[in-house]
Amino acid sequence: MGSDLTTSVQLGNGKTITLPSGLYINGEWVKPAKGVTLDVYNPATNKVIAQVYEGDAEDVDAAVKAARAAFEKDDRSWGFGSPQNRAKLLNKLADLVDENAELLSAIEATDQGKTYTSALYGDIPGVSQTIRYYAGWADKITGKTYNSIPGTFSHTRYEPIGVCGQIIPWNFPALMFAWKIGPALATGNTIVMKTAETTPLSALKIAELIHEAGFPPGVFNLVTGRGPTAGQAIADHMDIDKVAFTGSTFTGRRIMESAAKSNLKKVTLELGGKSPNIIFGDVKSIKEAAEWAIFAIGANVGQVCTAGSRLLVEETIAEEFTKEFVALTEKIKVGDPFDAGSTQGPLNSEGHFEKVKGWIKTAVEDGATVATGGKDISSNNNGGYFLSPTVFTNVKAGHRILENEVFGPVVSIQTFKTEEEAVEIANSTQYGLAAGIFSDSATRLNRLNTKIRAGTVWNNMYNFASPTIPFGGYKQSGIGRENGEVALLNYLEVKSVIANGGEIRSPFAGLSG
Ligand code: NAI
Ligand code: MG
Repeated sequence: MGSDLTTSVQLGNGKTITLPSGLYINGEWVKPAKGVTLDVYNPATNKVIAQVYEGDAEDVDAAVKAARAAFEKDDRSWGFGSPQNRAKLLNKLADLVDENAELLSAIEATDQGKTYTSALYGDIPGVSQTIRYYAGWADKITGKTYNSIPGTFSHTRYEPIGVCGQIIPWNFPALMFAWKIGPALATGNTIVMKTAETTPLSALKIAELIHEAGFPPGVFNLVTGRGPTAGQAIADHMDIDKVAFTGSTFTGRRIMESAAKSNLKKVTLELGGKSPNIIFGDVKSIKEAAEWAIFAIGANVGQVCTAGSRLLVEETIAEEFTKEFVALTEKIKVGDPFDAGSTQGPLNSEGHFEKVKGWIKTAVEDGATVATGGKDISSNNNGGYFLSPTVFTNVKAGHRILENEVFGPVVSIQTFKTEEEAVEIANSTQYGLAAGIFSDSATRLNRLNTKIRAGTVWNNMYNFASPTIPFGGYKQSGIGRENGEVALLNYLEVKSVIANGGEIRSPFAGLSG
């Protein structure tokens, strides 16, 4: 499949393209030490469409050395040099992403399985917006001065942390790439990034654009590879100063343990969710609430950490709402990501497909009722990992489907009688990533916006995000926030300088008389 360091990729739209297949280390495409390859599948066809190289601990170490050297090089001209230079390079990269938007969207639709339209109008514009937003911050990072110790010039300086390990998932491969590199590069850090096993392709293309934009060698390094090897090597590494991770709560916990056991590298985690979407009887339109609820669980085939997977509906409208919601669910067009008529593509990988089907089985075993869906429809779809959107009713406290992130087109409906009960059910899981509240009462919304324990609360809408607005989780949904101004702090050390104006003598000066 192509030369040593390239791979030809059969896109889902019928076109064949060539991408780099190596690891990107110190500004060059290189083979991993062991030369092992990883098959890349198209989830819509269950066919191998490319081969990329799989890096492991040795390669991560080479990438860390390059990142360290780039951080220390030329009197630290990257992280401590001109912020306008970093902004210029990031803006150039954002422009290159826009110029390649159609290609990147086709790569993402092929490798991830999301619809081409959603990649073209959502993910890829999100990538360039995020990079551009953080480019704007590069020269706006300022400290404070303090007058509290008379006779001193006391001030804070914000400095880059150093070498950052970044481990990204497969649900929004390109967008998560941007969320990670934006704040890290704007603040002058250097990066060793690892992609998810099943979705390396858009990262390989963006790395090529990073090269074209002209970033200094070693500032950004990419290691495609597996979690337990390359990913674990990042978490364990003694010379990585900070690790940022998006993925499961299980793996996040493990990364934090490894950080603790190695060099106490700083950790930010964006983890799972089991987000409640609460529909009150006073909504203006049951139909519109149902449309939002469909988007809440259906976007990206439910492979979204904020997916509104627990629908909580006030008893007074439960019957009518459920009827409307199930009818809309049955209208979802499951099919080829490149077919303009498709609203839902396949799940991302065979392993994940099996896992989601397993949760459906579990819910049935626990006594829930399948109101619609729940079917493996791969055989009428070229063997791709297609599942019919699934709605469960008769779901009761203690059912495993209420506690566990399914990460697929699977939603459960519960009912409640009072606002207090809704809040109690909403807050009853280990997670706290997001929530939706639908009501026509502004006072009720304001009251509940403070009572829901989640990092994002949507009112009368769902699943909208922006690079300018903080994003992250309460409880076991994560540590820290991405996006917005606050995310800059994930990549900055605060240094306090307390400088003697020349007139303060040591309190021990008496010793010398
Ligand atoms: P995962 O958390 O294992 O994988 C995410 C990333 O972590 C991948 O790049 C993977 O290679 C890496 N990784 C895995 N083990 C690692 C280790 N020991 N050290 C360092 N890095 C490691 O998640 P997975 O297995 O892909 O999916 C399992 C579940 O996780 C999903 O069903 C879903 O519930 C959840 N998930 C949540 C995401 C989110 O956006 N919060 C994204 C992806 C998955
Ligand atoms: Mg794939």
